[in-house]
Amino acid sequence: MTRGPRPGPPSSPAARVAWLTDEIRRHDRLYYESDRPEISDPEYDALLRELRDLEEAHPELRSPDSPTQRVPGAAVEGLQQAEHRLPMLSLENTYDDGEVREWLESIAQFLGAPADSLVFACEPKLDGAALEIIYEQGRLTQAVTRGDGRVGDDVTHTVRTIRGLPHALEGAAPARLEARGEVIMTRAAFERVNKAREAAGEELFINPRNTAAGTLKLLDPALARARPLTFFGYGLGEVEGLRSPATGAAPRGHREAMEALAALGLPTALELSVRGDLAGVLAHHAALLARRDELPFEVDGTVIKVDDFRLQERLGLRARSPRWAIAYKFPARQGTTVVLDIGVNVGRTGALTPGAIVAPVHVAGVTITSISLFNRDEVARLGIKPGDRVLIERAGDVIPHVVGVTHSGPGEPWRMPEACPVCHTPVRAVEDEAVVRCPNPRCPAVLKRRIEHFVSRAALDIEGVGEKLIGQLVDGGHVKRLADLYALDEATLAGLERMGELSARNVLEGLEASRTRPLARLINGLGIPHVGETVAEKLADHFPTLEALRAAGVDELRGLAGIGPAVAASVRAFLDDPDERENLDLLLARGLQPAASTRRADGPLAGQTFLFTGTLARLSRREAQERVKTLGATLLSGVSSKLDVLVVGEKPGSKLKKAQELGVKVLSEDEFVRLLEESGG
Ligand code: IVH
Repeated sequence: MTRGPRPGPPSSPAARVAWLTDEIRRHDRLYYESDRPEISDPEYDALLRELRDLEEAHPELRSPDSPTQRVPGAAVEGLQQAEHRLPMLSLENTYDDGEVREWLESIAQFLGAPADSLVFACEPKLDGAALEIIYEQGRLTQAVTRGDGRVGDDVTHTVRTIRGLPHALEGAAPARLEARGEVIMTRAAFERVNKAREAAGEELFINPRNTAAGTLKLLDPALARARPLTFFGYGLGEVEGLRSPATGAAPRGHREAMEALAALGLPTALELSVRGDLAGVLAHHAALLARRDELPFEVDGTVIKVDDFRLQERLGLRARSPRWAIAYKFPARQGTTVVLDIGVNVGRTGALTPGAIVAPVHVAGVTITSISLFNRDEVARLGIKPGDRVLIERAGDVIPHVVGVTHSGPGEPWRMPEACPVCHTPVRAVEDEAVVRCPNPRCPAVLKRRIEHFVSRAALDIEGVGEKLIGQLVDGGHVKRLADLYALDEATLAGLERMGELSARNVLEGLEASRTRPLARLINGLGIPHVGETVAEKLADHFPTLEALRAAGVDELRGLAGIGPAVAASVRAFLDDPDERENLDLLLARGLQPAASTRRADGPLAGQTFLFTGTLARLSRREAQERVKTLGATLLSGVSSKLDVLVVGEKPGSKLKKAQELGVKVLSEDEFVRLLEESGG
């Protein structure tokens, strides 16, 4: 289970209860009133849980208006308040399988029924704001936020702007319907809204949830209309005359109720899967978690509900949540931490990337200690500086980013340096781009990054030469350009810190072996701007030697398939640069003899495109790729309609599914090996 840090006065239980109460109220205000949360959900839940545990151990410390007894949320000035006929409750949160099991067992025990005889509704826990929409005789008459659960804000005027939400119900409308659900903003809508704000020079919103909540409470419906919201129903308040489309009678359970809402034209929480047992519920949760990033909106867990209304009634309510439902939350992908330092990293092309060192924080199973700030625009947007408390997020495959500064420390926001932090050359800003570069080709940082790329797998694949050694070689002045690698001798290497004779010889052997790597790998390794693996291969296919490439005019380069004018110009400029020319001369003089491309343009697989996924058992991925290229095929980096063949090893990922959807030919490893044999590869 996730338990947050426990700061604050440790002293007596009474003092701790008072502190926790204040702290929880403060976070409630930040979350519900300012829409600017400072802590993550699990951190908040841990505070609430600690307070509940303390109150259970010391009942005399529990006050009637303790945060454990009331749903948070407060009225907004300028809006009318409205009372809910039935209280709008919150949900108990859990974060692990064990707690879900305990909950299921306690329910079964209470009801005196075997757990697997119960039917549960599983829904996504939508991350937005709770809303009650009232229809009288089929007409939308009022919409009210949850508020404190008893009284909420009347937001009828903004709710009427929600697309897809009927102002009049379809079919046989009940006399009264209080439909409850979540108002959310899709990720796409959120991005559009933020783009428009950026263009208008307005402050950006931090996340879709807070934006949805804030939009509902706008006074001006015209402003709300420009921020598209979506509603999904997940429950009922008071109803009169609601009929299940299946039975024609009053709904007997959650599923029938949701079907009734849907029949009236109200969107309901997308997935409603009804399962009978713990394994089924947990499997559903795991499946939803796996799809989390593919959903068009933020979902932060699964809500599990006892379906049968009679059983719901028997189970009853706690102070602020029903006993018949529970929210099984996904691991948090957000956390707050403190910025310790901000610096810039100088890349292979001289680009300066700002980044923050932060106090270690655990987010989505990973401890984050540093985080990219991307570029100078992002730095300006955040107005960030050391000492600030920040909310950070790591969403699926997306690299962690700072969502926003939640607490500004003293001082001026940090700014991008005017000079390269390594060689102190004044930086150059690229017009119309957020990129700032160190223009010095001899900058030690640039050289180190270039060597790292040169020795990498996709380039000359030089064994034994890692980041540390590269640092020593450059800092010690032993290597001033790429070609100097090939002038290293055993004495120099063995003399370096933590290098013995054996490792020195290893490095020399690695260098030796790299002299005859395929030309494409050398071209890639040079680090020509705009030239990656694919372009390097195209060049190597056309030019048998490095000399031939060096002699090519810009027109000849531009004439090659798949090479545009920008790339051609970049290659030519690189080859004409005096520093690069000297380096290339030296590489050749020091015995580099790259192997000409073996791709046969008239090979048996010519014109076909291949892609590999999963682990191959009989040959390495790289070997397999080289073989098909030799036979004339081209490699693609992703599944698209341009792909002819997908070769599937063990544990293939999402590529297989996509290929099948697109009708791409799929080969097993055995079939692929047979194809190689038949093609003479
Ligand atoms: S049922 C009495 N179902 O989560 C049960 N709530 O943490 C009340 N929420 O206030 C809620 N998706 O705003 C329910 N499928 C879902 C939900 C959901 C999101 C929100 C709702 C509620 C909060 C409780």
